[in-house]
Formats: sequence, structure tokens, C-alpha cells
Amino acid sequence: MTRAPTIEVHVTPQYLREQLLREASVGLTGPRKWVSPKWFYDDVGSALFEKITELPEYYPTRREREILLARAGEIARLSGAEHLVELGSGSSQKTRILLDAFEDLGCLTCFTPLDVNRSVVEHSVADLADEYPELELHAVVGDFTVHIDRLPRRGRRTVAFLGGTIGNLVPAQRREFFASLAEASVPGDTLLLGTDLVKDVSRLLRAYDDSAGVTAAFNLNVLDVLSRELEADFRREDFAHKVLFDRTNEWIEMRLRCLRDHTVHLGALGRDISFAEGEEILTEISAKFRPESVREELTTAGFELIMWATDPQQDFAVSLAVRR
Ligand code: SAH
Ligand code: TRP
Repeated sequence: MTRAPTIEVHVTPQYLREQLLREASVGLTGPRKWVSPKWFYDDVGSALFEKITELPEYYPTRREREILLARAGEIARLSGAEHLVELGSGSSQKTRILLDAFEDLGCLTCFTPLDVNRSVVEHSVADLADEYPELELHAVVGDFTVHIDRLPRRGRRTVAFLGGTIGNLVPAQRREFFASLAEASVPGDTLLLGTDLVKDVSRLLRAYDDSAGVTAAFNLNVLDVLSRELEADFRREDFAHKVLFDRTNEWIEMRLRCLRDHTVHLGALGRDISFAEGEEILTEISAKFRPESVREELTTAGFELIMWATDPQQDFAVSLAVRR
């Protein structure tokens, strides 16, 4: 039996533009400039991210896939989920490993990918509909920092948050995220969380500054997004990709470093912003975790860790936690 996928839209282009406008009027006008990472993922950025996952230096995707291949059966059994929701789902490539395991077990009836990029979600459910004709596909175009209380439910639920994307939130945002997920969950629901682990700094830096320059192109693409959405005239040639590891916070920082003094006109804000040579825009953090800190953050929110799985090199971890 094949049903057409359904899509629930909580984030429209207009809503996103207004959000970006508000954010830019704070983040780009002060002395320490920042933008939030969700603006990376327009269609160009989403395609570049797919290329990042295939880079030799970018180990997280491969490690997480290894872990899922080894543990998917156990994850399906422990969760016993009828509904799998995936946050920041992108192309849901690795998620197919889970869907196959759930299919073997036979309880899962519905899959919900959720992403801020509508066309990514549409493509993903169109492909999945052919591959999993028995599964109900109900997608959400939404923001996982805003719409957790609106997640659909078709019985016992597992929420998967893969790729280490949780590390793109700062600790206060993570606390809020886990708390709202706990609030939206019922006892027995589970969270499947992918976290990148603290490791040798040079390997971390290479993962975010690859030799082919794909990550640099991905980072610089946010300037094109800003120019388009805010009627601005950012020029990529005026900035360079920069990455560093903050040892105190144990997170990677992605920045855009300004190469010369210049002024950018932000049409949508009706103002000019001056950039000085050497000034930097913070575009993303990517936190690296230790086992104790993952357990503690989950426990504090009301989840109990029931599976902790890493690859043999301990590069990456996948946790399964149940709502108490
Ligand atoms: N889960 C995939 C993709 C990770 S990339 C993997 O593991 O490979 C991060 C994904 O999250 C992108 O598809 C991006 O569009 C989405 N995303 C980023 N910020 C988001 C937000 N605030 N709300 C919803 N989706 C978001
Ligand atoms: N969630 C991914 C991570 O933190 C996103 C990512 C990978 C990323 N490479 C990037 C974001 C480069 C910005 C720039 O690993």
C-alpha cells in the first residue's frame, strides 16, 4: 500500500526572512558579529553539506554510519518505536539504516523528517516513498529550536538527532532544547542522539578545513544567503574561511574573517555596516563532547541513558535515552 507523503509547514520563506532580519539587526550591527548556523542551509549550502559528508577529513558521518550499522537492531528493539522523527534530517541517508532495522522488527508505522529547508524535505520524502512503500511519511518543515512542541505523534516515538548537530547549539540552547523535548515526550519515548567526541585537535581542525576547500565554500555561502535575503552586497572575496578550536569550551568555531576595510549595505535594514580588516563574523560552533557530559545533560532534562555506542576509535558516539 503506497500513500502519498504529507508535509506540515511551520516555517515559510516569509517567516524565515523576518527571523533573519531580526537576527541580523542584532548579530551584524554590534562589535562582535555573528549569524546563526541555520542560514547555511539554502539549496546551495545543503548540497555543499552533502559533499562535506563525503570528504576524507570529515570523519563524523562515516563514524556515525559505522555505529548505526552495528547497533541499529538493538536501537530498534530497545525503543520499540511506532513513530520515528528525525530532526535536521537533511537527506536522511544514515537514517535508512535505522528504517531497515525498524522494518525488520515490524512496529514502525510512520517516519517524520523535520528540516528547515523545504526542498530538502520534499526530495527526501519523495525518495523514501519509493524505498519504503509500507511506511507512512509525514514530514515537517520546521525549526528544531522553535517547533519541538509541535512534533506530530503516531504512538510511541523515537526522536533521532544525528550528525552531531546538537553541538551546533550553545549550552544554554541545548538545555532549552532537551527540556522542551522532554516536555513534548511521554514516558517510554526515546531520544537517539549523535555527538562528536573530544579528540586530537589537528584532526578536528582538518575536519572543518578540508584540503579541497568544500567547507570554506560552505562557510562563505552564508554571505550569498545574507546578500539575497537582506538585499545586501556582501562580496565573498572580502572574507576568508577561518576555523579554530576553543579549548576551554571544547568547541570548534567557524568564522568569516574580513580581509579589508569596507562597508556593506544591508538594504532590508536600510543601513550600512562597516567591516574592518581582521574583524570576524562567528558563523557556527560545533561542540565536542565527553561521555560524562552527554549523560549529565540528558539526565538533567529527564532522560535516562539506556545505550551508549561508539566506534572502535571513540571518535563519535550515538546515545539512546528514554523519557522517564
Ligand atoms: N542529519 C544529517 C544532516 C546534518 S546537517 C546528517 O547527519 O548528515 C544539519 C541539517 O539540519 C541540515 O539539513 C539543515 O538544513 C538542518 N537545520 C539546521 N538548523 C536547523 C534548525 N534550526 N531547524 C531545523 N533544521 C535545521
Ligand atoms: N553539524 C555539522 C558539524 O558540526 C555541521 C558542519 C559540518 C558544518 N561542517 C561544517 C557547519 C562546516 C559549518 C561549517 O559537524
